[in-house]
Amino acid sequence: MKINENSAICRMDLSGRSLIKLLDFTPEEIRYFLDVSHELKADKKASVPHRYLEGKNLVLLFEKTSTRTRCAFEVAGMDLGMGVTFLDSNSSQMGKKESLADTARVLGRMYDGIEYRGFKQQTVIDLARFSGVPVFNGLTDQFHPTQILADLLTIEEKLGHLKGVNFTYMGDARNNMGNSLMVGCAKMGLNFTACAPKDLFPAEELVMQCRKIAAENGCTITLTEDVNEGTKNADVLYTDIWVSMGEPDEVWGHRIEELKKYQVNSKAMNNAKPTAIFMHCLPSFHDTNTTIGQEICTKFGISEMEVTDEVFESSQSVVFDEAENRMHTIKAVLVALLRNFHK
Ligand code: CP
Ligand code: NVA
Repeated sequence: MKINENSAICRMDLSGRSLIKLLDFTPEEIRYFLDVSHELKADKKASVPHRYLEGKNLVLLFEKTSTRTRCAFEVAGMDLGMGVTFLDSNSSQMGKKESLADTARVLGRMYDGIEYRGFKQQTVIDLARFSGVPVFNGLTDQFHPTQILADLLTIEEKLGHLKGVNFTYMGDARNNMGNSLMVGCAKMGLNFTACAPKDLFPAEELVMQCRKIAAENGCTITLTEDVNEGTKNADVLYTDIWVSMGEPDEVWGHRIEELKKYQVNSKAMNNAKPTAIFMHCLPSFHDTNTTIGQEICTKFGISEMEVTDEVFESSQSVVFDEAENRMHTIKAVLVALLRNFHK
């Protein structure tokens, strides 16, 4: 299906690049992803077909579990007319009987793009190198770039702009979400605050890099242990689970002790601006309606973790718009990076 030349998609051509981390993209290129996302979301809502990648095929590799990322890539790919294959470690040879380099070379012969979710950032880099096709990072221990595009789109929809927004991330700030949000904010002109205990601040080197980018884009990066200072005047309060995929169960006890004062609760929301929104990449432990939520409650006596159920369910919470936007933004990334890519 031909793309109308007035479409935002035709404004730039990023075909053939990989999305390994947002640091590799300029603010103008991120702006482009967001503009294309707005357009494709409007098309989807109006049932306007956009099968721009017909004849192309996408493979999704998951070494960690997923609901949103997997479904967003599958639906986005299908809406664009692509063929989509899902593989996890149990149903492929990857890692056990076949090296990553060999797997990448095989997949590169059959597919036009590869999504990868797993542990090491280096794996996404190697996949791109050996496969010769664009690779999309669907989360590693270090970065989660497609989530940040959905978050930026959601903030823009809810608050009307990105520049000058006071964005506070509470909790484990040295993980994939803290790192990637800091990068996304620095690139797009949002004032980023990591509100966390010192040992869970993002790595010094990344902070320095982001401070430089932030200075170019007229915004700031702040690290604070003080909840009152961190939440004051915030436009967005964002949090993530306290123990991420791949971390050992043994860290729960210490992490709960360390992070309980960084819970997003009504006191934190009330200290932010009255117009503030609550965001979370999900999944979230805001009640005991999950196996892990129940286990933690039995073991440590807490029924809510990084966010209270009250805040999660409040009118300030935009978490399900954010989840939906995963699909629209991933669709924009696929079109942008694959439309004129020919192997
Ligand atoms: N937010 C996110 O990446 O969700 P999943 O783990 O369900 O993909
Ligand atoms: N930090 C979380 C994000 C999940 C989307 C994890 O890695 O498990």
